[in-house]
Amino acid sequence: MKSEILTALRNTKEYVSGQELCEKLGVSRTAVWKGMKKLKEEGYQIEAIPNKGYRLMESPDVLNAEELESIRKTAWAGKQIVYYHVTDSTNIQAKRLAEEGFPHGTLVVAERQESGRGRRGRFWESPEHAGVFMTILLRPDFEPKQASMLTIIAAMAVTKAIQTMMQLSAKIKWPNDIVLNDKKICGILTEMSTEMDAINYVVIGIGINVSNRQFGEEAAKIATSIAIESGMQVHRAELIESVWEWFEFYYDRFCKDGDLESIRKEYDACLVNRDRQVRILDPKEPFVGIAKGITKTGELIVETEEGMKQVSSGEVSVRGIYGYV
Ligand code: BTN
Repeated sequence: MKSEILTALRNTKEYVSGQELCEKLGVSRTAVWKGMKKLKEEGYQIEAIPNKGYRLMESPDVLNAEELESIRKTAWAGKQIVYYHVTDSTNIQAKRLAEEGFPHGTLVVAERQESGRGRRGRFWESPEHAGVFMTILLRPDFEPKQASMLTIIAAMAVTKAIQTMMQLSAKIKWPNDIVLNDKKICGILTEMSTEMDAINYVVIGIGINVSNRQFGEEAAKIATSIAIESGMQVHRAELIESVWEWFEFYYDRFCKDGDLESIRKEYDACLVNRDRQVRILDPKEPFVGIAKGITKTGELIVETEEGMKQVSSGEVSVRGIYGYV
């Protein structure tokens, strides 16, 4: 009921009368009144004017399934939302749900993770009220070798969401970190289950540092949050919505083209170390060069003294000459 009332309030610019709500939702006046009361208790500021009706004035930064559902504008991404107040890891849960048969586009969101996981087995700090921790389940109809391109698309989506929603100059550190002022605000962990030469499912986990004020010793060396860098207060559900709107946009383009050609220019413009010197930590043979952009299949192009080289994600890490970027 709360979610339906919220959606109705959000879909009306002006006032919506109690009578209209009753008719639209097929419930009694008392049910509407109770729903309003619950919303107010949660911190929603709802103006109620006699003979006019109700109007949503301000939404608090609450994160739950009703809030997410009431602001969803996407066609398929997050059509089904599984919300946990606390869970081990949204990636672990998304994989479990995938095995249970949940559909393409299912979105898992948590307020807090107890075993948030980063790349290379690292821990991802996931404190309550401070971040976005979410994973989307995809069942794409393409070959496993194309799956790494999904990380590129996800990075693009997060960057665009932050740029457009907050007018902040978020950048991408290829392939899957988002940075603000050269420090990390977001990481992406893509995992996949394959069978023969087909993808069973892919899960893309995204962690965004929103209002963290401090980090553990290890993370503190490279991490920051949107609040630290900008002082902004972020409505996390809106940020989540925006990320998946952008994701759908790029994903649908990618499926149509079969590669990243139409995204490449935009991605390169967001690349934090574009035209900067980088160290490629290749376990076989580390080298130094200038990052130039990505190929249409998502490899990083690096100009070296021996010519142009292409670097695949998964095999290597990229560092700046003097540090993380
Ligand atoms: C990294 O940069 O190392 C990737 C971090 C990915 C963290 C997110 S938070 C949501 C999802 N659940 C996890 O356990 N990990 C990802």
